[in-house]
Amino acid sequence: MQKRIGILTSGGDCPGLNCAIRAVVSHAKLQHDWEVLGIPYATQGLLERKTTLLNLHGLDLRGIDPLLSMGGTILGSINKGDTLAHASEIIASYRALALDALIAIGGDGSLAILHQLACQGNWNLIAIPKTIDNDVALTERAIGFDTAVNTIVDALNRLTFTAASHDRVMVVEVMGRTAGHLALHAGIAGGADCILIPEIPYSIDGVCHQISELRDRWGRKFAIVVVAEGAKTANDSSIAETQNFASLECGMGQYIANQIKSHNILTDRLDVRVSILGHIQRGGIPSALDRLSATAFGKAAVDLIAREQYGQMVAWQNGRVVDVPIVDVVARSPLPVAPDNYLVQTARCMGIYVGDG
Ligand code: F6P
Repeated sequence: MQKRIGILTSGGDCPGLNCAIRAVVSHAKLQHDWEVLGIPYATQGLLERKTTLLNLHGLDLRGIDPLLSMGGTILGSINKGDTLAHASEIIASYRALALDALIAIGGDGSLAILHQLACQGNWNLIAIPKTIDNDVALTERAIGFDTAVNTIVDALNRLTFTAASHDRVMVVEVMGRTAGHLALHAGIAGGADCILIPEIPYSIDGVCHQISELRDRWGRKFAIVVVAEGAKTANDSSIAETQNFASLECGMGQYIANQIKSHNILTDRLDVRVSILGHIQRGGIPSALDRLSATAFGKAAVDLIAREQYGQMVAWQNGRVVDVPIVDVVARSPLPVAPDNYLVQTARCMGIYVGDG
């Protein structure tokens, strides 16, 4: 049966979104000859009832399809805005655009809002998880995470050599909002000495003890400290409760650096520098793994529509793509790093300080 499906990207962008759009359009067109409408700027586009007809090879340059390797999203995205204030108009847009189904590529916040709209409007919604934070529940992978981890690892490689040349402590602040997956994965892969994540309170004594141990036991004169933007101590409620990280007068990286500099366990005055990787983590060419997940997710989303199995999110579990109810995803997200996580144990066995004491 001929269908008309909408697709949108919502929330913070990340590498791999265009791969997912490409996969949806390819599968919908080649296998089903369905019409695919791109909705720009997520709920903003729905509100304004704007669409773009997406065609195979629509962006080809001499036969080269740039969507596989392009970061960002050709549809544009928003991660702010008062969607719920315009809920009834947005809900009505689904029928006004004569959509048979809507594919939303989003993180936990966007999926929660779109799920609510879909329930109220009786939409046929399918979700694809994306976020560099990797905190969407019930999936081991979200689009964008792997590329962001690789970007941080690349930065750590560079920073390690300059830290070693100058005998410096390099504090590297990474994103992740309330979750530490990004810091934990990249910190282990990038050779960090300390990894501070929101889920496991750190103590500045623990961080400085690690730095002095490196020097006294191993003769190491430099150290790499990876700090998630939401890291906290057991008592640091003022920082920890600030959800709007961008508005922190001094970000977590600088905050930790100041604490290290003034700590009395370190008898020499340490030369400490801070690197805030910021939105660099959201850019770049998608990694092979993100391209693969995005392509498999896009294909699976179209399959769900073909089976008219709605209200589901495609997910990666145990090496394959499955689907899970969006309502369960929303109830369990954002997913924190569990304290007994095998990577936390791995990091500690490698001698990395990961907080607590
Ligand atoms: O959720 C993705 C993310 O990049 C977080 O890691 C970060 O805290 C936030 O978005 C930044 O948002 P913005 O792009 O609005 O500054």
